Amino acid sequence: RTAVIMESNHVNAHEPELVPHKGIKLIEGTHDPDDVDQICNLEIRDSDVFVITYPKSGTIWMQQILLLLESKGDVTAVSKLSKYSNADLIPWIELKGNRQAFITAPSPRLRVTHLQHHVMPSALSQRGKVIYVARNPKDVLVSYYHFHKVANMLETPRDFSDFFDKFLRGDVFGCSWFDHVKTWHSHKEDMNMLFITYEEMIQDLQSVVRRISLFLGKEMTDEQLANVVKHSTFNIMKKIPHANYEQVPGDLLNHHQGRFMRKGTIGDWKNHFTVAQNERFDETFNKEMKDVPLSFIWDIL
Ligand code: A3P
Repeated sequence: RTAVIMESNHVNAHEPELVPHKGIKLIEGTHDPDDVDQICNLEIRDSDVFVITYPKSGTIWMQQILLLLESKGDVTAVSKLSKYSNADLIPWIELKGNRQAFITAPSPRLRVTHLQHHVMPSALSQRGKVIYVARNPKDVLVSYYHFHKVANMLETPRDFSDFFDKFLRGDVFGCSWFDHVKTWHSHKEDMNMLFITYEEMIQDLQSVVRRISLFLGKEMTDEQLANVVKHSTFNIMKKIPHANYEQVPGDLLNHHQGRFMRKGTIGDWKNHFTVAQNERFDETFNKEMKDVPLSFIWDIL
């Protein structure tokens, strides 16, 4: 069975529910609260790698890069696996059943997650590696809005303005973008973490891929690295069915409503936000992020 992107083994023709659970939100039917509760106790190996993102920050992009790095840029090896989606090959740890599979999986165990820090394995402070990808929350909001229309496991937004309010309140899967980013960033020194942004990847994919390969200790030739970069660009990925969830069944992703690989750009928020919404967003951003020692590249782009 095609395993799914972040969120579902469950199909619900009606509006699915978000279930508050220990300071996070789970998607009814998709996540099992008891399973999620056990994630913090997982044993971690040195070779484990977790990609951690707030939804719509470039998770599938990192999955593609890691798969290509594993194959040393050998695209044929990756396309032999094309009956699997990127999410089958680098699964979400929080999806029902995936925690158990993780325990016995062979190394290297590459996983992605949208979970918050307090429910993730505490052993990550001693072993394993974390790649955190952050994206301009204004673009995340727009991407998430469109994704809610495509994803049947998420509530269909009434309109943009309604979704805008929900996002600012953190009333979505992933909760508050601000809390997600600032909490993970505050633990940067407690674990072996590479903190990167979607915008850096857009600006200079090659140097980000090089940083990731160094971080993961991969010895790559320039040609191998160039292949990784080439096959993880938006234009190539959108033509590869397994790299953009085309084979995910229509009952989970409504492909008529839009594509998973939607635009892949920065600044699309300018086509969606009103002046008043932008002011409100900035006000919240400044309040929430005022004590965070982070300057974001999108401020200068
Ligand atoms: P848009 O909706 O703005 O296009 P996630 O995988 O975390 O759900 O993130 C999905 C977002 O990342 C989508 O954003 C998607 O188009 C974008 N994305 C995926 N692969 C990309 C790539 N190679 N280059 C640029 N953007 C990419």
